[in-house]
Amino acid sequence: MSNEVQNPKVLILGGTGFLGTELSRLLALRHEVQVMNRADGIDLENPNPDSLRAYIQKNQIEVLLLVAAMTDVDLCLKDPMKSRQINFLGYQKLLLPLVNSGIKPVLFSSNNVFSGVNAFSVESETPKPSMVYGQHKVELETWITENFSNGVVFRTARILSSSDHAKNPISDLSRKLKAGIELTLTSDRKLTPVSAKDVASAVEAVLLCKLNGTFHLAMNAGYTWFEIGRAIKNKLGSSTVIHESESRDITGREIRPVNSTLSNQKAQQELGLKFQSLDEVIEEYFKS
Ligand SMILES: NC(=O)c1ccc[n+]([C@@H]2O[C@H](COP(=O)([O-])OP(=O)(O)OC[C@H]3O[C@@H](n4cnc5c(N)ncnc54)[C@H](OP(=O)(O)O)[C@@H]3O)[C@@H](O)[C@H]2O)c1
Repeated sequence: MSNEVQNPKVLILGGTGFLGTELSRLLALRHEVQVMNRADGIDLENPNPDSLRAYIQKNQIEVLLLVAAMTDVDLCLKDPMKSRQINFLGYQKLLLPLVNSGIKPVLFSSNNVFSGVNAFSVESETPKPSMVYGQHKVELETWITENFSNGVVFRTARILSSSDHAKNPISDLSRKLKAGIELTLTSDRKLTPVSAKDVASAVEAVLLCKLNGTFHLAMNAGYTWFEIGRAIKNKLGSSTVIHESESRDITGREIRPVNSTLSNQKAQQELGLKFQSLDEVIEEYFKS
């Protein structure tokens, strides 16, 4: 490809969480990856743009992966001002001095920018979030897209991984099933998970081919949490019972969209990705 660039230097903002840990590990196999955390001046409640800009200049960083976020959607509902500060305003303050600097921001956003009226949402659909968390993600998506012509937005629903991590749903569900803890999982709303490995491949694809724009990263099919739990239970050969529930049975929390499914057609065509299936990711988890 004529517009390929050689391994640009990547800085991950927020390397302590689930996706940050996974991306550091997976991208470091082929790229020079550095990490800045809350303690390094990127506390999004009190951001220090000067320390980020100085770090970028000193280390010749070309790509910024914006991973840090307030991710508990129920806490975002309870404290919308904090959610907006961390998920939008803090980033705006950090990134403002970098507009026109040539740096490439890559934002990790969510299916929750949609209200879930349509199944398998496509990138050209106008976001219409019903959740507070989704509203602040849309604000940041819009600001980045308007200010960085080379910016990238990746939207995902839940991320699964072959590694053990408290926030990896495969780790969490399999641990409970092994311990004989009966599960109650919703069977009325579908989501398209994606593997952390495929998210890392998408990052590599946009870096190497200098692509920009919004991409949905998702498995080909949608699953309910009940179906995901059952697939893990079958793999384990567990006899622990999984009960089915409906989303409306769970009260006192933000109402999730009925459809949390994203279409991966654009990512397949433009990034050349083939997405792992649910069974493949579960298989990899138990092999590793
Ligand atoms: N995991 C998923 O299934 C999923 C699905 C869709 C979208 N995403 C998106 O992917 C990104 C990462 O998600 P994740 O699951 O890896 O989240 P996570 O495990 O909750 O990690 C969140 C990260 O953000 C940092 N952070 C939180 N508050 C901060 C603040 N005030 N200032 C600076 N850093 C702060 C945390 O640092 P500390 O360790 O210091 O708290 C941590 O590194 C998010 O943008 C999320 O919206 C994830």
